[in-house]
Amino acid sequence: MSVLHHRRPVNKASSPSRPLATDDSGAAASSRQPTHLGVIREEIRKIERYDPPFADRTVINLSLNEHYALPSSQIQDALYNLDPMRLVTYDTEVAEQLRARIAAREGVSIENVVLCPGSSSGLQLLFSCLAGGPLLVPSICWSYYLNLARLHGLPVTHYDVRRGDGEFQVEAESVAGALERERPALLLFIQPHMPTGALSPVELVLGAAEGARGTLVLVDEAYHGFSPAAASVAARVLTHPNLLVSKTFSKYFGLAGIRMGYLVASAPIAEQLHKAASPFSVPFVSSLVALAALDSEPHYRALAAEVMAVKGAFARRIDAIPGLRAYRSHANFLLVELPDAEAAARAEADIRAAGVAVRSARSYGLPSFLRISLGAAETMERVATALERSEARHAAR
Ligand SMILES: Cc1ncc(COP(=O)(O)O)c(C=O)c1O
Repeated sequence: MSVLHHRRPVNKASSPSRPLATDDSGAAASSRQPTHLGVIREEIRKIERYDPPFADRTVINLSLNEHYALPSSQIQDALYNLDPMRLVTYDTEVAEQLRARIAAREGVSIENVVLCPGSSSGLQLLFSCLAGGPLLVPSICWSYYLNLARLHGLPVTHYDVRRGDGEFQVEAESVAGALERERPALLLFIQPHMPTGALSPVELVLGAAEGARGTLVLVDEAYHGFSPAAASVAARVLTHPNLLVSKTFSKYFGLAGIRMGYLVASAPIAEQLHKAASPFSVPFVSSLVALAALDSEPHYRALAAEVMAVKGAFARRIDAIPGLRAYRSHANFLLVELPDAEAAARAEADIRAAGVAVRSARSYGLPSFLRISLGAAETMERVATALERSEARHAAR
């Protein structure tokens, strides 16, 4: 009998027509089923789910800092020539090859490299290993760090990131003061900083690591590679044993979908991280793709130069619109300031009407800003034109 004609009987009892409501005790009101939420840690029950701002994929999405380019031909070949039998086994060989290649690229040894399925998983792994104590983060930062802190019961304190003339800045005195006062378990730098695109001097980062005994200094280099001015400090884990660097294939290599990232740490710290990681957590296909990405460095270097050129041209267009300002960024996104929060919301809607999604920076405490990822030159042309028209229309009223 053809499967097309084979119908499974519908079990009406197991397919309720509406969702079950829950009463105060947590039991589903209509079935009296207990929810068993009491077995879940209170910290988890209290935090809000991390909700990525996924935009409608029928528009061009410049809200998630993704890349716009097709994966390199080496990556496409690697996928095309994939031996399906390799999917059957718990592969460690390709992951080990990848670790060795990453170690050579970063100027460290293989024991300094911990692979993880996306750098956010690497951050989670690190947080799960911390003995406790405060977390010191930038005053403007990605909410996921705060979620991780709450999840692991770590108090959070901040150092200042301030708006300067044309660029944002990490305040060195504020970092030093907070280090002295709080004696944090973990000090976090984002380099280049997200969402502002600012760069902290390498001396500030390394100086903090040198001065802060008993503190781990984590440098999130997720957006490394786009700006020649932004040097990686990964190799410095060899001389600074309390330094850790996290990196990802999601941004510079434009491979957010493979979920591949890594931590670089001193050998003793990396060893502890390895012990805490789940076995075989690095997917074989992702390792294969990441290796092919490393084989395509010249291609990605050229793409990064293209992103920088597009960014320069786009920023100049924005700065020419009265009342708007693009802040200097060393990453694949730009912060654009509008006269006020209302103007920012209006511009976001007008850009969306032109078929492009950008990100409001409201959740970062910057309601009059939009964070705009850099897309292909034609897309940025479309965004700039939408912004010009939006402002001109409003000025004419
Ligand atoms: C600052 C920062 N770090 C880390 C990540 C996580 O990257 P992934 O988990 O894709 O490696 C992101 C993602 O947008 C980010 O903005």
